[in-house]
Amino acid sequence: MAGWEPFEIWLVWSDRRITVPAEQSALAALQAAGFPIEPGCGNGSCGECATEYVEGDVVHKDSCLSLDDRTHLFSPCVSRARGTLVLPF
Ligand code: FES
Repeated sequence: MAGWEPFEIWLVWSDRRITVPAEQSALAALQAAGFPIEPGCGNGSCGECATEYVEGDVVHKDSCLSLDDRTHLFSPCVSRARGTLVLPF
């Protein structure tokens, strides 16, 4: 997608690092790495893909998560991060 920057996801408990290229969603990168995640709307509106994170500078692009949700969840179908995003898996 235009304007997307690559970033890294670190699955901290399994110590796996997944690079999310600029042209791919975090959801697609996680699925390609075998991470069990349910695809839903794909446009940030349903919350089906909402995934917990523990640390990172998330760029939230969804329209379904509340501000409170966003402190610990992100929607990988549309949201991005700067640098490394740490997931508790
Ligand atoms: S799949 Fe619907 S918000 Fe991500």
